Amino acid sequence: MTQKKRKFKTQSFYDRIADVHNLALKINGYRQSVEKFLKSLDLKIDENSMVLDAGSGTGIVTLGFHSAGFRPCKTVALDLSFNSLKLSRGQFKKDKKVNAKNIVAVQGNILNLPFADESFDLVLSCGVLEYVPLDEGLREMSRVLKTGAKLVFIPVRPSLVGSVLELLYNFKTHPLTNVRRISQRYFNILSRHKFPITEPISWSKTIFLLEKK
Ligand SMILES: C[S@@+](CC[C@H](N)C(=O)[O-])C[C@H]1O[C@@H](n2cnc3c(N)ncnc32)[C@H](O)[C@@H]1O
Repeated sequence: MTQKKRKFKTQSFYDRIADVHNLALKINGYRQSVEKFLKSLDLKIDENSMVLDAGSGTGIVTLGFHSAGFRPCKTVALDLSFNSLKLSRGQFKKDKKVNAKNIVAVQGNILNLPFADESFDLVLSCGVLEYVPLDEGLREMSRVLKTGAKLVFIPVRPSLVGSVLELLYNFKTHPLTNVRRISQRYFNILSRHKFPITEPISWSKTIFLLEKK
């Protein structure tokens, strides 16, 4: 399948399932897990910082980031899916722990980010790079990050639950050896974290904290 067809297929899939997907994430406590993890990091984000949630879906990671207490100048939530973005905007506005004025939800492709080189102080990316060639996705995220800035990369990890999700959501899990090898082309791997086993996000996801070389 060509990149263009793949992109169209993914976009219309997430446009169809935005509500159900959002509900599933809420029931699973994804936001709380992301919030707890991000709170544990010293991300050096202040009122001048620019943050990108690359492949933001319905906004769960952006919400978790904000309820963790981070207050950047601007958070850009970017996704292919129009309906997911629409839903996310509604959630940002309603949420008391979030300053919606500082969040902008934009439609775009993570392989062709509409931003200048070295625009961001932090990129968050959860469950998205499984839809694109890993090298191209990481290279583009690295391009828009400032040197020394961090990427919180939350990929799907090979597991039984990961395989079921792969079928349901139509993506391809990247083997962790590839994740490490390809990440190192653009980033230093600062650490790898695991979500606690009691949290549903741990059944399918893992975390790499990366720093742009
Ligand atoms: C599994 S969801 C994860 C959403 C969100 N990061 C989260 O953790 O809730 C995958 C998202 O990636 C988006 N996506 C897939 N390929 C993309 C691309 N090339 N550019 C931008 N977004 C993409 C989909 O539209 C979908 O919203």
